[in-house]
Amino acid sequence: MSAQRPRVFSGIQPSGSTHLGNYLGALRNWTHLQHEMDSVYCIVDMHALTLPKEPGEVAEGTMTMARMLLAVGLDPEVSTIFVQSHVPQHAELGWIVQCLTGFGELRRMTQFKDKSERLGGLNEGDDGSARSNASISAGLFTYPALQAADILLYDTDVVPVGDDQRQHVELTRDVALRINSRFGEGTVVVPEHRIPPAGARVMNLQRPDQKMSKSVGSEAGTIEVLDEPKQIEKKIKRAVTDNDAEVRFDVQNKPGVSNLLSILGGATSTDPESLAASYTQYGPLKVDTATAVIEMLAPIQARFHSLSDADVHDALTIGRNKAHAVANPVMNRIRTAIGLLSTGQ
Ligand code: AMP
Ligand code: TRP
Repeated sequence: MSAQRPRVFSGIQPSGSTHLGNYLGALRNWTHLQHEMDSVYCIVDMHALTLPKEPGEVAEGTMTMARMLLAVGLDPEVSTIFVQSHVPQHAELGWIVQCLTGFGELRRMTQFKDKSERLGGLNEGDDGSARSNASISAGLFTYPALQAADILLYDTDVVPVGDDQRQHVELTRDVALRINSRFGEGTVVVPEHRIPPAGARVMNLQRPDQKMSKSVGSEAGTIEVLDEPKQIEKKIKRAVTDNDAEVRFDVQNKPGVSNLLSILGGATSTDPESLAASYTQYGPLKVDTATAVIEMLAPIQARFHSLSDADVHDALTIGRNKAHAVANPVMNRIRTAIGLLSTGQ
C-alpha cells in the first residue's frame, strides 16, 4: 500500500460485452490513471446478482471482463485488478453500510427507480403494502450500500465514474461522513468522484440523442470493442448525420456529426472542434473515423484473443491477494470502531 499516491477505485459489471463508450469513457482512462495513482479496479460480480442471472452466466461474464481489462492495457502488477466476490470483506462491509444507510436515502436513487421500473415496477397495493414482483430483489434496492462498501474498503480518495454514478458516490460520501461523526474521525476515508469531461460521452450511432449502451438502442448504433473491422466500417458508414451537409462540432444542433467528431477525436487524441475544420463532407469524416477506430481497437482485439484462461486466472489471483492485503486491515479497523466484539486473536 502506497501512502504517498492517492488511491483510485472503480468498478465495472461483468456484462459480457464492452462497447466503445465503455472504452473511451472509462477503461482507457483507467489505463492512464494506473501510472498516476494507486489504482484498484474491481469486477463487481456481486452487483451483477441484483438482476436475475442464469447459472454460469456471471462466471463467464467475469472471465470475459477480466480478459478485456488486461487487453485494454491494465497491468496486474501495476494496478490491482480483482473480482469482488473473491474478497469477502465486500459482503461484510456491505451489510454494515446497509445498517448505516437510511431506507429513504436508498429510495431516492434514480438507478433503482429506473431498473425496477424496467422490471415491471413495485406495484404498491392500495393499503401501502408492497406486492412487488419477485424479480425486483432487495439487493437491487441496497445495491448502492454495497457500492459504498466497495469504495470505503480501500480507503479510496478518488472514484472515476460516468455521470450516471454520481448519485451513488455522493451517497458514499454521506455515509462516510456519518460513520466518522458517529464512530470517530478517520474511521473511513471520505472519497471524491471524478467525472470525465463532457467529451467522454459516446452516443449511439443510430440515435445520437442517446448514450451508447448495452441495454438501450440498436445494435447497429453500438460499436463493440471486439467488432470486426468490416462491422465497424459498416456501422460508422450508416451512422445517422443530418441533411445540411456541413461539418461542424455542435452537440445541440448536430448530434450525429458531433458524435463522429468526438469519436475521431477520442481515437486520435485530437480536439473535435479543430477536427471539424479539416472536413467539408460527411463521407471522408466517416472513412477517417472508421479507420481511426479500427486502428485503435486492433491491438486490444489481438491481445484479447491471445490471452489464455490461465493468464486471466493468474492475473486475478495476483489481484485478489493485493486487494485482500488492503481490505483486511481496513475491515478490522472499521469493525473495531463500530464496536463489534473482537475474536481476541
Ligand atoms: P456500464 O456499461 O453502464 O456498466 O458502464 C461502465 C463504465 O463505462 C462506467 O464508468 C460508465 O460511466 C462508462 N460508460 C458507459 N457508457 C458510456 C458512454 N456511452 N460514453 C461514455 N462512457 C460510458
Ligand atoms: N455501480 C457501478 C456501475 O454500474 C459499478 C460499481 C460497483 C462501482 N461498485 C463500484 C463503480 C465502486 C465505482 C466504485 O457502473
